[in-house]
Amino acid sequence: MQVTKDIILNALRSVDDPDLKKDIVTLGMVKEIEINGNLVSFTVVLTTPACPMKEQIRKACVNAVKLLVSQSLEVTVNMTANVTSIENKTIPEVRNIIAISSGKGGVGKSTIAANLAVALANTGAKVGLLDADIYGPSLPILFGFEGKKPYLNDANKLIPFEQHGVKLMSIGTLVSPQQAIVWRGPMASKALRQLIFDSDWGELDYLLIDMPPGTGDIHLTLVQSLPVTGAVVITTPQKLAVADARKGAEMFRWDQINVPILGVIENMAYFIPDEAPEKKYYIFGENGGKSLAEALETELIGQIPIRQGIAENSDFGTPIAVYKSGDIAKVYHEIAGTLAQKIAIRNASVSPTLKVEIRNQ
Ligand SMILES: Nc1ncnc2c1ncn2[C@@H]1O[C@H](COP(=O)(O)OP(=O)(O)OP(=O)(O)O)[C@@H](O)[C@H]1O
Ligand SMILES: [Mg+2]
Repeated sequence: MQVTKDIILNALRSVDDPDLKKDIVTLGMVKEIEINGNLVSFTVVLTTPACPMKEQIRKACVNAVKLLVSQSLEVTVNMTANVTSIENKTIPEVRNIIAISSGKGGVGKSTIAANLAVALANTGAKVGLLDADIYGPSLPILFGFEGKKPYLNDANKLIPFEQHGVKLMSIGTLVSPQQAIVWRGPMASKALRQLIFDSDWGELDYLLIDMPPGTGDIHLTLVQSLPVTGAVVITTPQKLAVADARKGAEMFRWDQINVPILGVIENMAYFIPDEAPEKKYYIFGENGGKSLAEALETELIGQIPIRQGIAENSDFGTPIAVYKSGDIAKVYHEIAGTLAQKIAIRNASVSPTLKVEIRNQ
């Protein structure tokens, strides 16, 4: 039998993308089929380089060609990714904008935003991280660029800092905390818009926004200025934290706003002592993240334990996810993969989030 591109394509129709629940040929993910004697190669274009199913899909492709065409073929699958996006005319070069948010302060939003950004960048994605916490910026400390000012490029745009493969901007680099503290809402909103639109982000697959606690002018400015792909809600397990986190998250679900909640992350979920790693202590209680996810009709996409190393590395300006092989780094990488999947599913299934027009009453 003469092996043709059509025969290979037909075999690959039996391989489904587990997230999008359609076959990879129908989804247009198979490209560049080459046949040379018994050597067959093709490229599979995933919706994110952070896809946790990458290896599973690659193996399924090899098996499909061998079983349905011929065992004697030698099959090479090149896995690449083209991150999907909702239609975004506001900053078209930024494919996905993700708000990392919680109604509750101090639950680990900034730490999680920093580590997820690094973990996504480690997979090869182009990632930006914007510190929208006007009154308490954290990124200059988390990434070690305290006291530094961004340069302007020829087009008068601010050049983001770059650390561990992540492009970074923080209001903390433009004003002193003392200045910011006396600002009124409209000034803070103006500063946020400037950071978003006057920074030279270039092409980004994911722009993560580290939000301030609560719901205020900054939150409204964000959803009014940008089509936000989705929000991730952070909580700790305590009932009080869950109640506050929920209050904050409900804003995204208002009819006029309607930003999808991509998932809940439970931080400080349990404590594992270094000397007894088989033990887990649920210091702050159990199931807080799960109950919040249920209340918000979304999923719990990760649980992060309490670990001294997380706080220490943050203070030294190197998010722990930079050390790829550590156990905590692995937790952040897994959550980043799940989040990237949720974004791809959202982009494939939900209509774009429109910028919200809210008039001051
Ligand atoms: N899983 C963890 N284990 C240990 N320490 C943690 C963990 N997560 C966060 N921390 C520490 O808790 C403190 C608060 O975290 P972080 O600043 O990220 O919270 P936040 O929600 O951004 O706070 P804010 O509401 O003030 O913006 C920091 O000192 C951080 O290093
Ligand atoms: Mg913070």
